Amino acid sequence: MQKNESTREFVKEYYTKAAKEPRSNLCCPTSYPEEDTSHIPSEVIERFYGCGSPMSIAGIRQGETVLDLGSGAGIDCFIAAKKTGPDGKIFGIDMTDEMLKVANTSKTEVARNLGYSNVEFRKGYLEEIPVDNKSVDLITSNCVINLSPDKRKVFTEMNRVLKDHGRMVVSDIVSVHDIPERLSGNEELLGECIAGALTETQFLSYLEQTGFYGIEILSKTYWKSVENMDFYSISVRGYKFEKTAGCVFIGQHAVYNGPYKYIIDEEGHVFPRNQAVEVCTDTAQKLQAAPYTGAFTIIEPGENTGSEYSCTPNDTSNGNGSCC
Ligand SMILES: C[S@@+](CC[C@H](N)C(=O)[O-])C[C@H]1O[C@@H](n2cnc3c(N)ncnc32)[C@H](O)[C@@H]1O
Repeated sequence: MQKNESTREFVKEYYTKAAKEPRSNLCCPTSYPEEDTSHIPSEVIERFYGCGSPMSIAGIRQGETVLDLGSGAGIDCFIAAKKTGPDGKIFGIDMTDEMLKVANTSKTEVARNLGYSNVEFRKGYLEEIPVDNKSVDLITSNCVINLSPDKRKVFTEMNRVLKDHGRMVVSDIVSVHDIPERLSGNEELLGECIAGALTETQFLSYLEQTGFYGIEILSKTYWKSVENMDFYSISVRGYKFEKTAGCVFIGQHAVYNGPYKYIIDEEGHVFPRNQAVEVCTDTAQKLQAAPYTGAFTIIEPGENTGSEYSCTPNDTSNGNGSCC
């Protein structure tokens, strides 16, 4: 059996047991507020093996399509189901039959409590997500990517299924230093989300390399130390932006409004505060969307970019309803 295949088989076996018999100490303690979980059966809550609360910090909007990777017994999917309302759609992906069984059995009670049914669990791998290209607004995952034997593939797949301007909010365990061989080969530590952890730097650079931008660490808490190595739970957000036109300059400029003296985006563009910088059409579009909304003013071709440019986007005091 190939190494990747045997890792998956071990993880499957590990979480089959954890689905059959709940384990209270499997991952770091985290919880959701009662109002988010009151519609969820206790069989699911007892099998919550996450290390963060992505559904509390993802800014879920009514009607969104949400994809939860490694959905386990389904807790995050059921929370999202309430937050998106009946017009939303939630997909939970997991490879372990016993976990899917708990999730699917609980779906009926959740639907009864909410008054609608909008969750679908699909069996599959994070490395080959069984969801269409560009079909999802938000991807979440709670303490799963560390278990994957091919993490780069997972990030690439996430980018494939996200819609343009879609976002990922992922909680996972990371280490400070590379995991030494004596730990990486320890199967119990793999199951506990320790031995397969990326370093925080690797985690962020995988995101960058697979095309995410606007990357932000939303939370970081110490989890534990194993053989003098520290492990943290982090929650990270990143966005997808699809370049359509390529590098086409039509005379647009971007002005960074502050509060920092200058910033650099993932592509290396430097934007000093209050200076008009030439940008291509794709970059101009990107800077007007989340997470940059309000941070930049885009000056269209023919508009003034020089010293006369002095107002802020909210300044419409010239009476014609526009800035400058
Ligand atoms: C630590 S549990 C987390 C479950 C859930 N996110 C939660 O917070 O309760 C990891 C889950 O990810 C699933 N899993 C691990 N690796 C996977 C992979 N490569 N593809 C699909 N599912 C995977 C396991 O079957 C298990 O249900």
